[in-house]
Amino acid sequence: MSNEKIRVAIVGATGYTGAELLRILLSHPSVEVTSIVGQSKAGRPVAEVLPSLAGIVSGVVDAFDADRVAAGADAAFCALPHGASAGIVAQLHARGVRVFDLSADFRIGDLDTYTRWYGEHHAPELFGKAVYGLVELHRAELRGATLVAVPGCYPTAANLALAPLVNAKLVSTEGVIIDAKSGVSGAGRAPGERTHFSETSEGIRAYKLLSHRHTPEIEQELSRLADRPVQVIFTPHLVPMTRGILSTAYAVAAPGVDAVRCTEAARALYEGSPSVVVLDPGASPDTLWIRGSNRVHLSYTFDPRTGRVIALSTIDNLVKGASGQAVQCLNVAFDRPEGEGLLFAPQWP
Ligand SMILES: NC(=O)c1ccc[n+]([C@@H]2O[C@H](COP(=O)([O-])OP(=O)(O)OC[C@H]3O[C@@H](n4cnc5c(N)ncnc54)[C@H](OP(=O)(O)O)[C@@H]3O)[C@@H](O)[C@H]2O)c1
Repeated sequence: MSNEKIRVAIVGATGYTGAELLRILLSHPSVEVTSIVGQSKAGRPVAEVLPSLAGIVSGVVDAFDADRVAAGADAAFCALPHGASAGIVAQLHARGVRVFDLSADFRIGDLDTYTRWYGEHHAPELFGKAVYGLVELHRAELRGATLVAVPGCYPTAANLALAPLVNAKLVSTEGVIIDAKSGVSGAGRAPGERTHFSETSEGIRAYKLLSHRHTPEIEQELSRLADRPVQVIFTPHLVPMTRGILSTAYAVAAPGVDAVRCTEAARALYEGSPSVVVLDPGASPDTLWIRGSNRVHLSYTFDPRTGRVIALSTIDNLVKGASGQAVQCLNVAFDRPEGEGLLFAPQWP
């Protein structure tokens, strides 16, 4: 391992996940942030655009210039809307920059599936070339990777809970239901009618019923683990909190399976992980217990009446669900300790 710092650009630094990347990387011992890039906010002081960093980060937000970013960076995080990201990722990758893309543009492996859910792809030459960055399940492929698709927040939460069960064939892959709740920062920084304070602060609702774009991403990973096509019902909800995801998944248990076996399978799969904590059977994790951290809390409960397993997980959507996981990917790709710069404890209460 060399002692030289990894020079990193953040493209899309003025949004929520970009700001979170900056917060994490400022205290990462092996990283130096060399470019802070925005779009509409380019040219403005960083401290004005991201007031939480006043007195910590000086300078102005740059406009995107592929040559300038590439001249100063070994790696770039692209924290941009899907669709807008692919072209920028391609320009940087073509210049030898290793890219960690937080958008959905490179997560789906099948072009027809991508097109059906997201529309036209804007860098078809790179399509299918990224490593899927769910670190706990793709560690070996991530080593040395030059293009990483950082997973979506809901797929991270749901699949980390379901993977040990599917992997060890502890549940049927028919009829899996995922009911998940997210804080409003999951929708990004741009204000919108559906995320307006007065329309979210005292209510809760399901959204994008049967049409949320994380559905094919969840199914892709579960199908890979099961080695057969898996379909799920995935119902997301918006809840009046800023950060956090609680995912509750229901699956039919295989004969003889109980919560203890599920818990043991998860502890075996995630042994040594700097992020995943498998709570005792029947525990009820809370988003407040992982808020602001790169941690995941999992727990398993078995209902002998209905023969179902309930697999619960909590993550912070902006950390393990996005920017923390992206840094975890960088650590593995650059042969750094996986938890470097990420071992800070959650903010509680
Ligand atoms: N929020 C989450 O919890 C979460 C979790 C996992 C993954 N993600 C994914 O991460 C990506 C970023 O999400 P976010 O929540 O950080 O979004 P956001 O808060 O809306 O920030 C978007 C960023 O992209 C820049 N931008 C917007 N349109 C652009 C364009 N056409 N070309 C270049 N730059 C553009 C913005 O720059 P200006 O502000 O300067 O205009 C801003 O820096 C998205 O793909 C999202 O799906 C988000």
